[in-house]
Amino acid sequence: MTMTSGADSSDERAGRREGPRREPRAQHTAGPRAQHTAGRRAGQSSERRATQPAAAPVVVARCEQLRREYGRGETAVLALDGVSLRLNAGEVVALTGPSGSGKSTLLHVLGAMDEPDGGYVEVAGNALAGMDDGQASAFRNAHLGFVFQLFHLVASLSAEQNVALPARLGGLDDGRARARARELLERVGLAGLEQRTPDRMSGGQRQRVAVARALINDPALVLADEPTGNLDHVTGGEIVELLVSLAHERDVAVLVATHDPAVTAAADRELRLVDGRLVVPA
Ligand SMILES: Nc1ncnc2c1ncn2[C@@H]1O[C@H](COP(=O)(O)OP(=O)(O)OP(=O)(O)O)[C@@H](O)[C@H]1O
Ligand SMILES: [Mg+2]
Repeated sequence: MTMTSGADSSDERAGRREGPRREPRAQHTAGPRAQHTAGRRAGQSSERRATQPAAAPVVVARCEQLRREYGRGETAVLALDGVSLRLNAGEVVALTGPSGSGKSTLLHVLGAMDEPDGGYVEVAGNALAGMDDGQASAFRNAHLGFVFQLFHLVASLSAEQNVALPARLGGLDDGRARARARELLERVGLAGLEQRTPDRMSGGQRQRVAVARALINDPALVLADEPTGNLDHVTGGEIVELLVSLAHERDVAVLVATHDPAVTAAADRELRLVDGRLVVPA
């Protein structure tokens, strides 16, 4: 398999299996997060988009030459070895590669849950280096959504309370947070189940709650780590379809680490890691 090196070339070559499926977003003059939000809120009609020249995509995440090394000396593992990429508003990118190739590590670095040993990361206009724990958690709550293989819902809270939680943490009052949560639960197909706790839901229903929770603060980027890994094929397919349609409809970038070919097929493009490096997908 061909190794790639260099910043943008690896992204470009590793990334695109085919052209972008949708119109690029409108370009704005403000920073990436503002651009992202403005592009979404502007609500350009399809007629307007059809008559305007193609604009450059809005970049919501950028990494340059990321390095992450675990341990030292002979037992050291280079989990990320010079990873450079860009993620655009409204695109779903499948992050593939063998077990141990660095997918979760990359999601953790992009999610400000882990610091790289070298390189640069910027998400929603924020350089992630040097944030303390409080800044990182405020950043995550404001700009990111997370969807995990094991759902990570709070067992004692209803679906509505689980979805509302990030909005409450962001300072929204309880009534408005719950109203937003109910809207999102309806959007993900769970109308009527708002007051259920996760232990009385199926895996697919739990993952729908997690998807709604990931979106409640209107994030620029959603990071999903094997979101279909615990679901049967059909239910997993439904979750992927939901993620893709929500990303497109809300102009959210989604990076989804996966071993599931159905996820990769549904994504707009694929980035493949092998031994901590981006390579051209087979
Ligand atoms: N906390 C850690 N301490 C030491 N090594 C780690 C740690 N986390 C990950 N690694 C190592 O870093 C490499 C990349 O791991 P990572 O979890 O990112 O892989 P992955 O692509 O997500 O794999 P999988 O598909 O199995 O989830 C592996 O060699 C792993 O053993
Ligand atoms: Mg992993």
